[in-house]
Formats: sequence, structure tokens, C-alpha cells
Amino acid sequence: MVSMDTLVSLCKRRGFVFQSSEIYGGIGSCWDYGPLGVELKNNIKRVWWRDFVQRRPDMVGIDASILMHPMVWRASGHLDHFTDPMVDCRECKLRFRADQVDALPWTHYCPATKGNKFTIPAGEPCGHCGARRTLCPDCGKGELTPPRQFNLMFKTFMGPVEDDAAVTYLRPETAQAMFVNFENVLQSMRLKLPFGIAQAGRSFRNEITPGNFIFRTREFEQMEIEYFVNPHDRVEGRPADEYWHDRWIEDCLAWFRRYGLRDENLRRREHDRDELSHYSKRTVDIDYRFPIGWSELMGIANRTDFDLKQHAKASGKSLTYFDEERKEHVVPYVVEPAAGVDRALLAFLADAYLEEEVRGEKRVVLRFHPELAPVKVAVLPLLKKREDIVRTAQAIRDELSRYWRVVYDDTAAIGRLYRRQDEVGTPYCVTVDVQTVGDTDKGERADDKVTIRDRDSMEQIRVAASRLTTVFGDLLAGKRWADVAAGVAAG
Ligand code: GAP
Repeated sequence: MVSMDTLVSLCKRRGFVFQSSEIYGGIGSCWDYGPLGVELKNNIKRVWWRDFVQRRPDMVGIDASILMHPMVWRASGHLDHFTDPMVDCRECKLRFRADQVDALPWTHYCPATKGNKFTIPAGEPCGHCGARRTLCPDCGKGELTPPRQFNLMFKTFMGPVEDDAAVTYLRPETAQAMFVNFENVLQSMRLKLPFGIAQAGRSFRNEITPGNFIFRTREFEQMEIEYFVNPHDRVEGRPADEYWHDRWIEDCLAWFRRYGLRDENLRRREHDRDELSHYSKRTVDIDYRFPIGWSELMGIANRTDFDLKQHAKASGKSLTYFDEERKEHVVPYVVEPAAGVDRALLAFLADAYLEEEVRGEKRVVLRFHPELAPVKVAVLPLLKKREDIVRTAQAIRDELSRYWRVVYDDTAAIGRLYRRQDEVGTPYCVTVDVQTVGDTDKGERADDKVTIRDRDSMEQIRVAASRLTTVFGDLLAGKRWADVAAGVAAG
């Protein structure tokens, strides 16, 4: 498995992710997506929306504002429950999540060795004096305060007056907008249960211990679905909410596999009873084997009717569904597949990363699924001094970029250009050479063909330039390279 350091360095070098405000020394846990990172991120969100909203008759989407009425957070339980226990070091003032202190390596000034300083692996005692950690794991000197609950929501003020009446919060999840818009969406779209509302957008959490690159940050993006079901219905002999919960777990796993995550790097993790969120009847995480070890990629919770009931009670509005068959009003149950865009991006990046040896040289390649690859095609001139080659290559770039993200590059020799594109995961390259445009001095006629190269096999075929749109249309729609190559060879 690739290390996090390797990914962070590749991301910076090749324009995927930069430290935010780097010229001022950076700002904790904030990251900026660069030119390739934004393409990758947009592609993830685009295929998620296409597969889970556009292609499904039972789904619709919304795009709600980040700032919501403060009552939303009281009713949802976030003001009271969205907390982590934290402890502070009385000496160095560092803050830790109480439940994570024992998972950190700790600093120890050992009395058995005249106070020498050691860094001891998490959970282990000192090998010299046998002591276990009691003080701050970082400075090794300060006592830790008793745990206090710390609310993770970012507080801000609405309008020019900074008083209590103006307090509002940056949303810590996108989910609540789907609940408070339930009635609006139901009525305007005339929906029948079961149906889902999806949203992708930013969320904010004042995490006590952010870190591990884009894995845990204070500002991140989520792709969430609230899938409403009639709790009185049964599907395949089971209560509808339980059936749909399992169905969504399988559909989400299949989605991640389809876009490149290997099965051996994915697992389901059932939440224990004492771990469940305040709203949840059952939650299953999809974990990914990140460079930091197995960690949550997304969660799929059965939130029951908790949220709709809470908002109905707090707002005084009825948030029910009229069941025509049973002639009764019901409060739907909701199944919530909630994924993080940044974590998905990190997983796709880690799984795509491959180092291999090709003719005695190291090749780094990101084997992105073509739909996710930030650049689909790179057009490369074999000789940048030949004006006709450059002109032809640029014309091809212009034509192909009507359909896909396509780049032109002539800043190095061809071998180097191929390696650069491999390292950012571009699935196909097009090379324009002397044969393409002909050589009048030598009396050689143009054959109007170009070479296309497949990133993964590194195989090359020659294709008429006029067929490129069709050929890439097939390849990028998922047709196998071998089949396309056979078709081209057959004319
Ligand atoms: N509405 C339910 C909800 O927000 P969650 O498990 O807290 O559930 C869902 O968040 C997903 O959002 C997580 O599985 C993760 O992918 C992403 N996520 C949560 N906190 C994050 C953070 N601080 N940084 C990056 N991604 C985060």
C-alpha cells in the first residue's frame, strides 16, 4: 500500500492538492484542490449524481444553503449531542480527544534513566521503569484536565450585531436540509414512497484532532442521500426500512468497486450499540484500507423517523406522508447513505497508485477509472519544431475538448511526456508524428493517422485522426482496449 507521504507529495507536485494558504505557513487541516484535484473531485461528484440521482426514478436532488435557521440544530439534536469529549494539557495547552489519547505514541521522561526522554509506542509501558502514560502524550510534562464535552459545530453571527440572537452555525452535515425541505420536495415533485433526496455540498466540523491529509478536515464535502420509506410496508418479507438499509449498503459497496476500489480494501463494519449516533437504529460503515489503516469511508444509517418527528415538533408543521392505500398519515423512516467526497477521493487515489518497473525504469501510474481520471486524453506532438505537427496536434486537442478534458503538451521528449501523463492517470495519449502530416522534402504523403496509447497496457495502435472522437467515445464509455484495437485493425 502506498504511504500517505508519497500521496501528499504526488498531490502537491502534480497539482491535485495544496496546503491551504501555504505562502503564510498554511492553516491547520485546510487543503486546496488544484487544477487536477478539482477535475477528479468534480468527476466523483458527477458520477455519484448520475448513478444515484439521474438514473433512478425514485431520486431527486437539492442544493440547500449552508447557513440554516439555528432551530434546525436544536431540533436535530446537534446542539446537545454533536460533541466529542476533550482533554487539555495544563502545561502545553494542547487539546486531545479523550477517547483517542491512548492511541497516540507518548513522550516520557524516565526516572530510571536520569530523566532521559523517550517516545513510547501507543498503549505500551516504558521499557525501563515500566510506567504507563498518565501525563500529556505530547509534552510528557503536563497533567490532563478531566474530559469536557466540546461541540463540533462552527458558530458564527448572522448580520451586523454579534449577540446571542444572531448566533448561527455552519452546517455540520448536509442531511438536515433534506429533512426540513421534506414537505416542499414531496409536494412540488408529487413523489410516492419510497423516494430519496440527495445533496452534495460542504460541511464544517471543528474537529479536535483533524489530520491525515484530507482524511479528517474541518471543512469538507459530503454526498448524502436521505431515502424515505413507509415503515408499515414490507419488502421481500422484511420491514421496508431494514430491507432498504441492506440494499443501500450493497449498492454503495458496488459503486465504490465499480469505480476502482479493490474488494480486499473494502469492508463493512457494524456499529456497536453504544457507538450508535443519537438518531440511529442501526449503522453500518463502509471502511477502506487507507494508508493510515482501516478507517471509515462512508456510513449508512437507519435514522428511523427521528429527524422528521423532531422537526415537526419544533416547527409545529406536519411532516407526514399520506398513504393512499391505507388511508393514513405516516411519518416515513429514513435510510441515510452518507459519503465524504474528500475521503472518496483519497481512497480512489490510494487504490489507483501503482509503481512498476518498465524496461529497467520506475513507472508511477495512477490507474484511475476513465470516468474519474482528471484528464481523459493528452495530445502530444512528436516534434515540436515541425509547425505542421504542432498545428495538427492542437487542432485535435481543440476538437476532442468539445467532449472531454483534453490537454496538449510539448514541453519534453515523448517518453517523458508519457510518464507525466501516467503519473496523473490520463488513460489515453495521442501522438502526432511525421507520418501523420507527411514530409514534402522526402516526397512522403501524409497518412492522416495518429498513434494512440493505452495507459495501463502501454500498447499503441494507429488510428485515422478523423475516427478519434468515435474511438475515444467507445473507450471512455467502457469498451475494452483490445476490442477497440481489433475494430480499428479490421478497418
Ligand atoms: N449525516 C450523517 C453524517 O454526517 P458522518 O458519518 O458523520 O455522518 C459522513 O459523515 C461521511 O462524511 C463520513 O463517512 C466521511 O466520509 C465524511 N466526513 C465526516 N467528517 C469528516 C471530516 N472531518 N473530514 C472529512 N470527511 C468527513
